[in-house]
This record gives sequence, C-alpha cells and structure tokens, in this order.
Amino acid sequence: MTNFWQNLPQPFVGMAPMDGVTDQPLRHILCKYSSPDLIFTEFVNVEGLCHNAKQLLRPLLYDGSQRPIVAQLYGKTPESFRQAAILVAQLGFDGVDINMGCPAKSVAGAGSGAGLIKNPQLALQIIKAVKKGVSDWQNGLSCSDCTDFSSDFCKQVEKQRQQAGLQPIKEIKQRSSIPVSIKTRLGHDSKDVGGWIKLLLEAKPTALTVHGRTLKQAYKGKADWEAIFQVVALAKEMNSDTLIVGNGDVQSRTEGIRAAQKHQVNGVLIGRAAQGNPFVFDKDTFTTSSTFHKQLATIALEHAQLFEETFSTQEKYSFLPVRKHLAWYIKGFPQASQIRQQLVQTNSSKEVEKVLSAYGLLN
Ligand SMILES: Cc1cc2nc3c(=O)[nH]c(=O)nc-3n(C[C@H](O)[C@H](O)[C@H](O)COP(=O)(O)O)c2cc1C
Repeated sequence: MTNFWQNLPQPFVGMAPMDGVTDQPLRHILCKYSSPDLIFTEFVNVEGLCHNAKQLLRPLLYDGSQRPIVAQLYGKTPESFRQAAILVAQLGFDGVDINMGCPAKSVAGAGSGAGLIKNPQLALQIIKAVKKGVSDWQNGLSCSDCTDFSSDFCKQVEKQRQQAGLQPIKEIKQRSSIPVSIKTRLGHDSKDVGGWIKLLLEAKPTALTVHGRTLKQAYKGKADWEAIFQVVALAKEMNSDTLIVGNGDVQSRTEGIRAAQKHQVNGVLIGRAAQGNPFVFDKDTFTTSSTFHKQLATIALEHAQLFEETFSTQEKYSFLPVRKHLAWYIKGFPQASQIRQQLVQTNSSKEVEKVLSAYGLLN
C-alpha cells in the first residue's frame, strides 16, 4: 500500500474537511499560499454518487498541488460505500476517509455522519465495505464494474481522473491500495472513549481523527483535548497502529504543533481558522497593515477568478458559494462591513474586482 500517512512530518498539521468550504479553488489557494501537510475534500454522499449524481463529482476535483489529498465520504449504505471507495481510488486520491462525525440534522438525523455513533454495527460494516472497495480497486475493478454507476457517469469519472493529471486507467501497470481513515467525535450525547472510540480502533483504520466534541455539543463549548489524550492513551494500551489526529479550535500551525505535543497525537487538523486565512499553515499572526490587507484582497480576487474558471461551465453554475470566502478574507479590514455588504452581492470576479478597487485594495 502507498501509505502517505507514514511519510507525514510528526506532528503534522492538515486542513480538515469542510462541506461548502474545502472545494477545489480553496484547496488550491491554501496550497499555493501555505503548506498544509495534508488536505481533505468536502464530504461527499455515497448514496448520491451511486445514483449517478454528476454534481457530486465536483467536490472531488483537485490538482497535483494538493497532495497528499484525502477524499471524504458519508452515508449509511455499506454497498454504496464500497463502490464509492473504488471511485475515489480511480480518481487518484491518496486516501479515503469515512465521516462519522457530522452532527447536522440532515446527515446525523438520517443515520449517517455522527448518527453512526448510535449504530456501531453499521459503522463497522461501512469500514469493512470501504476496505473491500479499496482492495477491489487494487485487484483490478473500476467504476465500470460497479452495478450502480452508469457508463456516462464512469466516463465523467475517467475524464476527471485525467484532468487531475493522471494516466488513463487502461494504462495503469500496477494498482496500489490507498489507506482508509475515519473522522469522528468523542461520542453522541456524552463522550464515549471506552465504547465508541475503542470499537473504531478495533476496526484498524490507518488514521482516526477525533474532533474533541460530542454530537450533542455540535460546535458549542471548547474542544476537549484531555479526552483526545484519553484516545491516545487507549490506542497505546491497545497496541494500535492507528495514527491519532486531534481536531478542534486550533488557530495556527504553532498552536497545532503545541497541542499535538502536549496531547501526544500524531497530528492535528485545522478547520475554521483557515477561513479567510490562506497563510494559516505557515504564518502565525495576521497583521493589520494595509500591505497585508492588499495582499489578502488580491488573493480574494484570485480565489473568485479560480472559482469561475473551475465551475462556470458546469450545469446550474452559481457564484454564490464563493461569496462567503470573500467576506472571510476582508474580516477586520477598515470599512469591512461596507465592503462585505457589496462583496456578498457580487456575481462575477469582475464585480469583485470593481468593489475591491473602489476601496483601494488592489495594486
Ligand atoms: C462549515 C463547516 C463544514 C464542515 N464540513 C465537514 C465535513 O464535510 N466533514 C467533516 O468531517 N467535518 C466537517 N466539519 C467539521 C470540521 O472538519 C472540524 O471538525 C470542526 O470545524 C472543528 O475543527 P475547528 O475548530 O478547527 O474548526 C465542518 C465544519 C464546518 C464549520
């Protein structure tokens, strides 16, 4: 197996998966201006993929600058997970991650994401199915061998594989397996390291990311890093080879490394602190200088242009998803609220350029 996790620096600091946020343009920007040690896609629904929903292939766009890159999947149907794992491997991802931590009602309430904490037997079947999908891929199966994928859908997958700079699937001489990891929370209503986390470790994922909150907490309170340390202690006690990744409230690389060392995790993931901060994996502090603001504004425009370039030819294209990023970039600027009000009404990068220029933010 090509296991990129083993080659990461220790401790490593990576970009967490974030639905509606960590799309191809943001990942490209982050990897251009910063150095995350690994990066995740947004989560993608396996049942949707198995219904040939082509728009669900969009979150799986990436380019070579983003490696190592892990695709994250969510859902509740083991067979859909198996087929989706084959798809992820065919697209050339370095790893596949299973979401067992999303607290959103539409996800957890339907029995996926953190809803799986209440259904550990199904969680185990899903892990098994993803591992099976990866070994099916290694043994020569591809999307066209999956009963749920239409030939049109398979063509799109293959096209996307080649867009990512990879050789056509027919030309692959030797297929390698990819590591399977899991991202979860400490428990459902209360933390359950001895039950839920132990069960996951027994399933031997290559890595286990633990967000230090329960489903019930959603994003309230502080992430419980002492409990994350209990996960590390449990993994040691079990002689587990699974890498433990801590997550929750980390604001910078330095803070991440400090937290990792203190709580003895192999690495950490940063989520919200990367919003509007393309330097989060390198520089520690934001300055308030006008030069720095201009630099951020220029990156905001580049992000908007990249978003257009990536998605504008796609069906049902909308500029809307990039607007929140624009608002994040200009947080803390003088006149931020006026600029934000205008940016959130833009519909193209040209309009963004006009707004930012009007405030003297572009050179
Ligand atoms: C807008 C948003 C979207 C998210 N989407 C995902 C997701 O797709 N998959 C996932 O595992 N976690 C997701 N998360 C959770 C983050 O990956 C992370 O666990 C959480 O934000 C805590 O880390 P932080 O304090 O560094 O932000 C999301 C969080 C937010 C705020």
